[in-house]
Amino acid sequence: MLEQVSLKPFNTFGINAFAKYFAEFNNAESLGELLSSEIATTEKLFILGGGSNILFTKNFDGLVLKNDIKGILKIDEDESHVYIKAGAGESWHGFVEYCLANNYAGIENLSLIPGSTGASPMQNIGAYGVELKDIFHCLDAFHIKDKTIVAFDNKSCEFGYRDSVFKNKYKGQFIITSVTYRLNKIPSLNISYGAIKQELDKMNVQNISIQQIANAVINIRRSKLPDPTEIGNAGSFFKNPVVDATTFKLLQQSFPGIIGHNVYGENVKLAAGWLIESCGWKGYRKGDAGCHEKQALVLVNYGNASGDEILALSEKIMQSVKQKFNVSLEREVNIL
Ligand code: FAD
Ligand code: EPU
Repeated sequence: MLEQVSLKPFNTFGINAFAKYFAEFNNAESLGELLSSEIATTEKLFILGGGSNILFTKNFDGLVLKNDIKGILKIDEDESHVYIKAGAGESWHGFVEYCLANNYAGIENLSLIPGSTGASPMQNIGAYGVELKDIFHCLDAFHIKDKTIVAFDNKSCEFGYRDSVFKNKYKGQFIITSVTYRLNKIPSLNISYGAIKQELDKMNVQNISIQQIANAVINIRRSKLPDPTEIGNAGSFFKNPVVDATTFKLLQQSFPGIIGHNVYGENVKLAAGWLIESCGWKGYRKGDAGCHEKQALVLVNYGNASGDEILALSEKIMQSVKQKFNVSLEREVNIL
């Protein structure tokens, strides 16, 4: 148990907040022991993975528990699937690379997302037409109060767009210790989303494989998303807002260029990046807080911005999108 630990190396925004207490755990037993300590029972807790979806706006006045549970194991297979269990502290992209090396398919479109496997169910991570729920089998989670391990299947996680039961009715109650994924033995290639097909053509790929799709996704991501090791950020700062079909038609009449995709029946998911860019924020910078010049949905820390400065910028962006389009943006990043 350490005291007064800088969290700067532990969050991809690079915010220099301090944790009053800090401890790492690498298995469920050591987690159980830590949780029984006096500090854990009296202080606020925060579970930290790779720190790629959080913004510290102040020091954390409690105990930060860093998940370092490792291990990847094939636990079952049938004719068409393999079931792979990963310790929650494994790196997500490292796990994707493991699957690619073993020719386990279904995960390739989710290449290069930062963070840990343990956080992957938290917001049902998604990219390029695939969401975690499509390859999720089950997980084990430690119930903080009861000190028991509870298993969750796909249905009981209540996955939605950037959402799960762990962000809602079970918020703050569980620590995910392992996740089991169901990968395909026979690939069903998904290249319909965004610029994947275009990128594969550019790469001059003749026979498309899961590795080639991963490479295409990596190229696209590198071309527009800032690398957190160079510029602090946490990916999309806001969710893409979902509106009903009538609202979308009205918006289209006033703003013919507006970008939206049909989701969940009649509803339309708007491209928040387009809304923010249309309000003139793309490339904006005040001090070290800014709106990325290639992707307006990503807020950035050029060096020494405080969490409060980033938060204040996000507030201004939300206000101007509301004013221009009457659309409310919701933050994707967890604010602390
Ligand atoms: P953290 O940031 O450490 O934690 C996030 C939340 O999950 C916190 O509330 C934390 O308490 C909780 N948590 C973490 N681990 C556990 C656990 N084991 N048990 C219980 N609670 C836990 N996301 C996407 O969905 N799609 C993308 O394409 C994408 N692209 C990104 C690109 C960049 C450049 C960056 C920086 C981020 C991107 N993200 C994306 C966001 C982020 O990578 C994901 O949300 C990722 O899953 C966060 O993992 P993490 O381990 O860093 O979680
Ligand atoms: N766009 C603009 N201006 C911008 C940014 C985007 O007009 O500044 C337009 C693009 O031209 C495109 C549309 O908006 O037509 C969508 O853009 P993009 O494909 O870059 O994806 P996104 O909707 O901005 C979402 C996810 C990303 C994920 C990508 C790829 C959310 C909140 N974000 O971004 O996830 O990687 O799709 O699937 O759903 C994350 O969650 O952190 C994240 C990076």
